[in-house]
Amino acid sequence: MIARRMAKLDSSGIRKVFDLAAAMQDPINLSIGQPDFDVPDPVKDAAIQAIRNGHNRYTVTQGIPQLHAALRKHIIKHKHFDPESLLITSGVSGALVLAFLVLINEGDEVLIPDPYFVMYKHLVNLCHGAPVFVDTYPDFRVTAERLRPHITPRTKMLLLNSPANPTGAVTDRAELEKIAALAKKHNLLIISDEIYDFFSYDARPFSIGSIYPHTLVMGGFSKSHAMTGWRLGYVTGPHGIVGEMTKLKQFSFVCAPSFAQIAGVKALETDTSHYCDQYRRKRDLIYEGLRDAGYEVEKPGGAFYIFPKVPWGTDQEFVAEAIRHKLLIIPGSVFSERATHMRISYAATDDTIRRGVAVLKALIRRGPAK
Ligand SMILES: Cc1ncc(COP(=O)(O)O)c(C=O)c1O
Repeated sequence: MIARRMAKLDSSGIRKVFDLAAAMQDPINLSIGQPDFDVPDPVKDAAIQAIRNGHNRYTVTQGIPQLHAALRKHIIKHKHFDPESLLITSGVSGALVLAFLVLINEGDEVLIPDPYFVMYKHLVNLCHGAPVFVDTYPDFRVTAERLRPHITPRTKMLLLNSPANPTGAVTDRAELEKIAALAKKHNLLIISDEIYDFFSYDARPFSIGSIYPHTLVMGGFSKSHAMTGWRLGYVTGPHGIVGEMTKLKQFSFVCAPSFAQIAGVKALETDTSHYCDQYRRKRDLIYEGLRDAGYEVEKPGGAFYIFPKVPWGTDQEFVAEAIRHKLLIIPGSVFSERATHMRISYAATDDTIRRGVAVLKALIRRGPAK
């Protein structure tokens, strides 16, 4: 009954944790992939007003002109390039689905730095592409040197995600320049998922779109303005590719939610940088807590995740023990071909982070339950 392509999708790893979370009383939840603050009031007001004013119909597929104009200004100011083409999407997720469907032929190889955001692997598989994982352990740095040996005549594109989910790793400008040169040499398309650009703690984020035009840059409002449920994002890139994505969008998503597009204009005028400062502090709190407890851990430069090595057992065994102590975290193998790490989200209150660190401190020496 069900199409064969679905056999390649497995969401059991994360779902298990979410099911446990739903059943548990007062869990210490460090598994969440969205900010712990709410949408800013002016943005909520703009959405409510848009609905009241009757902006409830389909919009044009490419997105409303006001949001196009505001985003173009935003991209020029913060990412330092003027997009050749721009499409408003139903989140970065929507942009990824369209891009893969438009670009991947059977057997096309897609370079995916490992650890990776889960959706990449599954969507490439769904489109009958071949994900090629580029191991970046133990420091999670994505470098031209690590990518180079994996390039073959079948390599079509490279996925970048800086700051990254699940590691928080940030790729700096000097490295992105080397990666761009490598991509140019091999005529690769780059997909740069910049959904976490707002949460960049130690350096200004740099977009590879500003130096390598053969890039689809994806961004959105889910993390910077906590609008995860409103499904609003965008993609910029070469006219030919974005045009095909727009055509497919017309026959699938149709348009991004109308009220959210109007509120998106307000969001771009609404400064949320104090949240970035708060999250930098949370990053320090969890990093120092784990390091002092004796965990092998890299200091993340952005996003709101940290990806330490489990101190004993497999990732599944260790996470199962943490969950027995009411601490919800996610086994690293959900995001990786290795089963040695765990993803901890610090998009949580300081108190929850402290309680989580206390459990991890107690667990480090314990070993698997007999
Ligand atoms: C790396 C990455 N890309 C994309 C998304 C999805 O973003 P959106 O809500 O805009 O679809 C997420 C969400 O967790 C993410 O972590």
